[in-house]
Amino acid sequence: MLLKTTIPTLDRWRTAPSIDTLRSLYDASANHWDDYLARLGQPLDYRLLFKSRAVCNCLSHLDQTSKILDCGVGTGAFSLALLDSIDQPAHVSGMDISHSMLAHARQNLQHRCTTLDLRRGDIRRLPFADAAFDAVIFAHVLEHLADPVAALRELVRVLKPGAPLIGSVTRQGLGQVLMSLRWHNRGYASHQLDTCLQAAGLEAVRSFDYGTGWSKWMCIAAMGVKPGSAIVLRTHSVNAQKHLDNSRHLGG
Ligand SMILES: C[S@@+](CC[C@H](N)C(=O)[O-])C[C@H]1O[C@@H](n2cnc3c(N)ncnc32)[C@H](O)[C@@H]1O
Repeated sequence: MLLKTTIPTLDRWRTAPSIDTLRSLYDASANHWDDYLARLGQPLDYRLLFKSRAVCNCLSHLDQTSKILDCGVGTGAFSLALLDSIDQPAHVSGMDISHSMLAHARQNLQHRCTTLDLRRGDIRRLPFADAAFDAVIFAHVLEHLADPVAALRELVRVLKPGAPLIGSVTRQGLGQVLMSLRWHNRGYASHQLDTCLQAAGLEAVRSFDYGTGWSKWMCIAAMGVKPGSAIVLRTHSVNAQKHLDNSRHLGG
């Protein structure tokens, strides 16, 4: 009810692209995806996000034994940024509907992980047990889904209590409308993304503006923590920082 009254356009997206449409689109784009991201400066922006103080504090529990899930992993860029930030390998799982994107993810990630488990499938039905992961991340996949809250609930299901969900989405606006002609993506305002994460059952929810480049205008990031105490995060710092400030990111 809260969701319906607060964000009526997000409760259900009736013209969402089919999985087959998306799979064809991303299969056809996979060979160029890393170049596309590099031209936009997105790998750097992802790294700055994971090095920001608020996000770093949420990752302080991770080590080589930790399990991380990247939903809509694509070619692995978001996972690589996380691994750079924690400065050690980890057990990484990735789900994507596109076989070709996963093939590139394997090349990009295989030497960076303790173990790598890439699976083709829909993130709305994850083949993992409840509370299996120490962190779940997603970048630019929520924009494709008709029911974002239902999808986020599935991501939260596989998180351990106390563990963070960290994600990046396209910002609502003219740029996103133009992009959607090719990529079939909708956009989010920060308060909409916050509401979705809260409706999915997360606490300490925060959305962030990126500080630089393409992402400053086109993207927002957000994170929240699954209620419970199996993992203790430095959440006072999570609450303390609202805006991503690059000089502070780089200083950690
Ligand atoms: C915009 S790309 C982002 C890829 C990567 N996260 C990045 O930041 O570069 C979106 C990815 O989500 C995948 N995808 C879309 N819908 C999906 C779904 N329902 N389940 C799993 N993957 C999905 C696409 O195949 C594509 O690889």
